[in-house]
Amino acid sequence: MSQPTHIHKVSNEAKQQARLSEEQYQRMYAESVNDPDSFWREQGQRIDWFTPYNRVKNTSFAPGKVDIKWFEDGTLNACYNCVDRHLAERGDKTAIIWEGDSPEVQDEISYRTLHKEVSRFANGLKKLGVAKGDRVAIYMPMVPQAAYAMLACARIGAVHSVIFAGFSPKAIADRINDCEAKLIITADEGRRGGKTFGLKDNVDEALADNRCPTITHSVVCQVTDGEVNWQPERDVWWHELVADVSHECQPEVMNAEDPLFILYTSGSTGKPKGVLHTTGGYLVYASMTHEYVFDYREDDIYWCAADVGWITGHSYIVYGPLANGATTLMFEGVPTYPGIGRIGEVVDKHQVNILYTAPTAIRALMSKGDAAAKTSSRDSLRVLGSVGEPINPEAWEWYYEKIGNSRCPIMDTWWQTETGGIMITPLPNVNDLKAGSATRPFFGVEPGLVDNDGKSLTGATEGNLVIKQSWPGQARTLWGDHERFEQTYFSTYKNQYFTGDGARRDDDGDYWITGRVDDVLNVSGHRLGTAEIESVLVAHKAISEAAVVGFPHDVKGQGIYVYVAPMTGVTADEALTAEVREWVRNELSPIATPDFIHWSEGLPKTRSGKIMRRILRKIAANEHDNLGDTSTLADPSVVDSLIKHRLNK
Ligand code: WT7
Repeated sequence: MSQPTHIHKVSNEAKQQARLSEEQYQRMYAESVNDPDSFWREQGQRIDWFTPYNRVKNTSFAPGKVDIKWFEDGTLNACYNCVDRHLAERGDKTAIIWEGDSPEVQDEISYRTLHKEVSRFANGLKKLGVAKGDRVAIYMPMVPQAAYAMLACARIGAVHSVIFAGFSPKAIADRINDCEAKLIITADEGRRGGKTFGLKDNVDEALADNRCPTITHSVVCQVTDGEVNWQPERDVWWHELVADVSHECQPEVMNAEDPLFILYTSGSTGKPKGVLHTTGGYLVYASMTHEYVFDYREDDIYWCAADVGWITGHSYIVYGPLANGATTLMFEGVPTYPGIGRIGEVVDKHQVNILYTAPTAIRALMSKGDAAAKTSSRDSLRVLGSVGEPINPEAWEWYYEKIGNSRCPIMDTWWQTETGGIMITPLPNVNDLKAGSATRPFFGVEPGLVDNDGKSLTGATEGNLVIKQSWPGQARTLWGDHERFEQTYFSTYKNQYFTGDGARRDDDGDYWITGRVDDVLNVSGHRLGTAEIESVLVAHKAISEAAVVGFPHDVKGQGIYVYVAPMTGVTADEALTAEVREWVRNELSPIATPDFIHWSEGLPKTRSGKIMRRILRKIAANEHDNLGDTSTLADPSVVDSLIKHRLNK
């Protein structure tokens, strides 16, 4: 790091308000890693169990024997914990504040109403033949029914797999087929930024021509009342499904290690991975992190501005906050609609105390000066959070000053789909903050840095980030492919979980995440595999070869730079470039839209035929002065030509 560290010290006054003192953190942390069994035996009590657990931790990261079990002889139900158990004390408390895309539209759903809606829908699912262990795909916009659908699945023991509403029909079909989902829950359309977008249309296309043979029904929630095609033997309206069902639905008794959900995420190679989370450990971890990391208190209004299509939405819009009986705000829209001040306006309107959002949103607001802070006071805020990608110190300071009025600590939370919950983070008013650093591990998390040979590094240094022992929120496997799970996460460095991220540890022991060290991109906080985009590209008839790399982008964090070689006889003109851009949007997702499409007859390869991505990354970043060792290149002239025609100048 060349720039000086911006340190924000915790004042003595703030320390008085903290949930924990520094000494308490140290003591709890030491216990959590030295005696995880006793630590988590106690913490597991924060949720309700039907049958109490006797065993706590039973985990192995050993090669060929990776096996992760927590609370394995306990039984519980995640929906019961998020809904029913609050009815006695918090029945009238608002569980979900729903803020529509339009500032005129909102809804408040009490725990009692949540219980009724979820139970009815759960009964509807049963009516359609969904039973414990069945997989259910959910492809929904940000409406309360998305949360109802997730919780209803959990209630009857069905395993949900939420597919982000921005994904294409092909991506939907791939995910459905991988987990052999029996049913898909969707909506007619979604709304965002004053526009509507079709969802059922995409599902129709995904299911067309018997492409998803395991699907028996699609349940359609009426959100916009937009025009949809209908297949009466397959399609069911949500409101008709629940019209005549009971409001009572017994929650299924689940083992702690029964699957709760599958969430697909991108890896450096191959098709998306179905990350599997189970019930007990996940819920304990989501609930505990939500409480401690945001210093959540009973009457807080809590807002995580993510989408339920990602793990952040699972753990910190739905499961964590609801397990804690919190009021969680769900936002249908975007930070810039109808104006740049929307985030602050929503904060004021609902008196939000805790705001959790992503650096890409912060940078988008920041690019308009301080306009985003002009239309609101945001005086209700107490704690801020950041997630999804490294937050650069400039964006951190802007967030701190303009959104938090220089009085709310920012929790820069590092974690992943696979970790289930927050792993490295400050705690409010407990430790000093450093703009750009996720600082230190949460309870039970033992991070380490290793070099490329797997040698463990000590002291202030930089290396590959690993986690040395299991924590309850950890993913248990990849759906249907435990071998790939072991291969991806436990084979690079023996007996440790490899995160795929690089990090630096400073003199104080604080961690600074430097970003992915594999071929995974982080575009506006969305995780994308270069291999996934490449396979979509080479499926286009005009393309013979493709290589995708990321480059630094002011707002998105990383942009997508695509190198493509045309088929013989193909002329790469503007029309074709536009067509390829559309192709990627439609075949994968608009979030994967290339920023640059660079046609080249050849790609730089080693003499053994391997594409030299390192060189492509440098050219894409417009850092071509120092390309490093190019002596293994088969044809060095390719590089000169690529530099000459580079697009990111
Ligand atoms: C990757 C995981 C965590 C939920 C949302 C993303 C990057 C995440 C941070 C952070 C630096 C971060 C990492 C990680 N990342 N949070 N605070 N600082 N990088 O989940 O889609 O599974 O992506 O996001 O590179 O590996 P995901």
